[in-house]
Amino acid sequence: MDIWEKVASLAKRRGFIFPGSEIYGGLAGTWDYGPLGAELKRNIKNEFWRSMVQERSDVVGLDAAIIMNPKVWEASGHLTSFSDPLVECKKCHHRFRADQLTEKKCPDCGGELTEPKQFNLMVETYLGVIEGEKQKTYLRGEITQGVHVNFKNVLSSTRVKIPFGVAQIGKAFRNEITPGGFTFRSREFEQMELQYYVRPDLKQSMETFEYWKKERMGWYVSLGMKKENLRFKEHAKDELAHYAKAAFDIEYNAEGEWKEMEGIHHRGDWDVRRHQEFSGEDMSYFDEETKEKFLPYIIETSGGVDRATLFFLMNAYEEEKVKEGETRTVLHLHPRLAPYKAAVFPLLANKPDLVKTAKKIYDDLKKDMMVAWDDRGNIGKRYRAQDEAGTPFCITVDFESQEQDDVTVRDRDTMRQERVKIGELKAYLKEHVR
Ligand code: GAP
Repeated sequence: MDIWEKVASLAKRRGFIFPGSEIYGGLAGTWDYGPLGAELKRNIKNEFWRSMVQERSDVVGLDAAIIMNPKVWEASGHLTSFSDPLVECKKCHHRFRADQLTEKKCPDCGGELTEPKQFNLMVETYLGVIEGEKQKTYLRGEITQGVHVNFKNVLSSTRVKIPFGVAQIGKAFRNEITPGGFTFRSREFEQMELQYYVRPDLKQSMETFEYWKKERMGWYVSLGMKKENLRFKEHAKDELAHYAKAAFDIEYNAEGEWKEMEGIHHRGDWDVRRHQEFSGEDMSYFDEETKEKFLPYIIETSGGVDRATLFFLMNAYEEEKVKEGETRTVLHLHPRLAPYKAAVFPLLANKPDLVKTAKKIYDDLKKDMMVAWDDRGNIGKRYRAQDEAGTPFCITVDFESQEQDDVTVRDRDTMRQERVKIGELKAYLKEHVR
């Protein structure tokens, strides 16, 4: 099994990620996050928000609607330029992305392929209740435009001054021709983005671009991604998206396959200029100090939450030899990302005193953090289950706990155990999770 299969298998087994609508045979390109996956994904989004909004004074947050006036997508260029080249096999009628094929024949049956046609990725939907009068609109293809159409609203309702940014997290939808690679290319996915507005000065804006490249790379590393598994890849001129002046991807090395995880884009003034043109609203910024009026340049950082989740899982995954003939599968997730910060066990489930003390600890810790409970099977099995869930600490209440008022805390990564006083447990965990 390669790392993709191993992670997909663990994700299903432990409740991180399930195929969407599975009991109906699934729906290509859709995924459901299970109990552990929902926590992991939420922790990733919280860390993004913490570093991009909470800890900064030059960035504010926004949460825009998924469905927007269809004119937005005319203005943004998505209705004309947001497409992939599609070819179809004349024999088996399977469809492929022309830019992903290495040969000029059908990979499934060897048949002849049609000439490439541009296939628009926007997902259409209809609003309204009267048949025939329904309005055609779209599920957003990127979360970006919800920020740009609110540029003036943010300016007038807050104290931000250029340079400043607006961060957002939310769902986006694309009618991908070839969804696949587990959650890597989905039709419904989540993005975490920053739109950073700067003066329309090429040199200054390129400095800001470099600054954000470094920040975003640093963010992944600060949450435990191995440096050797990350690199920047510059987009060649002919690969640039319709809006971009310059673009770099942060790529993750999935066992030798470098895959895009996040994009840093210099969007010039494309979005504000186009929205000004199409809406008729003045989108310019007035600089109180210099008395200048201008359309700002935009530096964007655009990451996929699902891709980050997938690559954090791959990065954390290890099959470790414990002793001769015994291996364990462990997720070395950064404690801040781990779904559960700790698991609490009574040593024996049939000893009411142990269960009572363990329950008390569990209930108390739950007020402050996500904690798991397990009283099934032997301790070894419970440790293995928590290793696969990425739980950094396992707390066992045993017979000594009754006399000494302490517990055993076992570290996921080192597997070492130490005794910690029950009264100090919360502080111990908070310190180690940070
Ligand atoms: N606003 C710019 C933008 O949307 P993009 O490069 O098309 O740029 C940004 O997308 C990020 O969104 C990608 O780097 C990737 O992480 C994520 N993404 C894009 N398409 C995706 C898909 N089909 N499935 C999962 N994630 C996707």
